[in-house]
Amino acid sequence: MWWKNATVYQIYPPSFKDSNGDGIGDIPGIHSQLDYIQSLGVDAIWLCPIYDSPQHDMGYDVSNYEGVYPPYGTIEDVEKLIEACHTRGLRIILDLVVNHTSIEHAWFQESRLSISSAKRDWYIWRPPRYDQDGKRHLPNNWRSCFGGSVWAWDEATGEYYLHLFTPQQPDLNWENEETRNAIYASAMEFWLRKGIDGFRVDVANAYSKDLSFPDAPVTDPQQEWQYASHLFCNGPRSHEYLREMGRILKKYNAMTVGELPLTPDIEQVLSYVSAKEGQLDMVFQFDMVHLGTGPDLKYQTVPRNWTLPELKERVRATQRLMDGTTDGWSTAFLENHDQARCVSRWGCESTPELWAQSAKMLAILVASLSGTLFIYQGQEIGMVNAPASWGMDEYKDVESKDYYEFVRSTSHDDPVALAAAKTALQHLARDHARMPMQWDGTPHAGFTTPNATPWMRAHDNYSVLNVKRQTLDGQSVLSFWKRVIAIRKEYPDVFAQGVFCHTNADDKLFIIEKEGDGRKLVVVLNFTPSEQEMDLGAKLGDQSKLLLSNAGESVHLLQPYEGRVYLV
Ligand code: GLC
Ligand code: CA
Repeated sequence: MWWKNATVYQIYPPSFKDSNGDGIGDIPGIHSQLDYIQSLGVDAIWLCPIYDSPQHDMGYDVSNYEGVYPPYGTIEDVEKLIEACHTRGLRIILDLVVNHTSIEHAWFQESRLSISSAKRDWYIWRPPRYDQDGKRHLPNNWRSCFGGSVWAWDEATGEYYLHLFTPQQPDLNWENEETRNAIYASAMEFWLRKGIDGFRVDVANAYSKDLSFPDAPVTDPQQEWQYASHLFCNGPRSHEYLREMGRILKKYNAMTVGELPLTPDIEQVLSYVSAKEGQLDMVFQFDMVHLGTGPDLKYQTVPRNWTLPELKERVRATQRLMDGTTDGWSTAFLENHDQARCVSRWGCESTPELWAQSAKMLAILVASLSGTLFIYQGQEIGMVNAPASWGMDEYKDVESKDYYEFVRSTSHDDPVALAAAKTALQHLARDHARMPMQWDGTPHAGFTTPNATPWMRAHDNYSVLNVKRQTLDGQSVLSFWKRVIAIRKEYPDVFAQGVFCHTNADDKLFIIEKEGDGRKLVVVLNFTPSEQEMDLGAKLGDQSKLLLSNAGESVHLLQPYEGRVYLV
């Protein structure tokens, strides 16, 4: 099991590196940076969707699983990339997006042709409900993940189809065995045969739905569509489907990491990742990264709406899955393509010093946790959210745009409501992770050629915050991350596989204690911009070694955002 102690580097293809000057990152661009990726010390890369797609949701709307989105390159480019990775001893995993397809997928095109189409049942179609006055109503009141109803009306056949995400992403009907087999053949085996090492499985717990489609409880009477995610996650046949999928993956010895939203109960998480279950090897739980988001609508919140004790509780909760008594496994991560930058959320950007310190401290935090470590492109150089001064026209994500439009229409253009929406988006939008990778100080951060127009604007700070500068600087965030990854690899029993046993209660310092093979890890993090006193005496005993530190070595005083790791 190569993946247990591994560090995986996540790549967002459109924003990593553009090789041909069209302003869109591509596969040859990724290929050209393998030296850099390898210099980080990571073991594998995960590519976000590269398949052909009309890009309503950045490739999470696949129109052909067996084709590559032409601006990213060709099948041959991907084959070359797989080979190049393997030659270097790097593994490569792809995104598997099979809860839904694009409306442009041939399966859906055929399904929507007529009620008697041979593929009608491959998607989830429902007739309208009619009231006493003969007025047409939707099958239920569920709100989709990006707002609006989950049902889209199809005029031609007089029925609605289900879409948990955008109307351009119709949900596949997993109840149909023929559909499932087609998914396995086209989306999975086609690529497994090309030698990929596994999949990140998109919304892995949403395939099985409650087919009675009950109305969701009305939690907000002001709104037409109600929060229903808990009703469409972890449906009755979820485990059966994943087990079936697991049997195919096993033939290829492929690993999986499933996205597992809305599953806070650790016993339930375990039912997906228990080794004897043969479903998923590990999952992404969202306890930590959802901290500070609105309970009903993600962006109905204010920046930094969280406390350190809450963060600790969520870390502790997810770590419990690997407490030494289970046969389950999970992941550690602070960023991905759906999250804003961790420094902007939990660190500090007020001075260059505090920015660097907090980026390093957060590196220590996530790398000290048990599970397979995932880092997201740009995290290793401490990239931050887009500036507050940028207008909404720089935000390209469908979730951001839909939310802003929702606020505009429901508030009737109220400037106060719109400003609050913008503030929340500047803090939490998915766009922040999707801006071009900052390679150097040349125009567009060296992501594309100087005369090109990148599909998203590069951050204003690229001339100071970039890979090139940080490579030359032994004290940089990048250099620190390389050390962190190497140390984590050196002591797998306490880092990747340690048992999280204790944390402290206060709201300034985060102390983590983990147990390994006859030794312990003590991690101390100062989550404040000021010096803090501490007394570790008893915890460290008289035989301890400082493995990592982003500042001094004083036993009693921690610098602002200082982080340390001791081996005891
Ligand atoms: C997952 C992806 C996200 C996408 C959604 C719909 O949550 O990470 O980017 O929008 O699925 O496929
Ligand atoms: Ca390109």
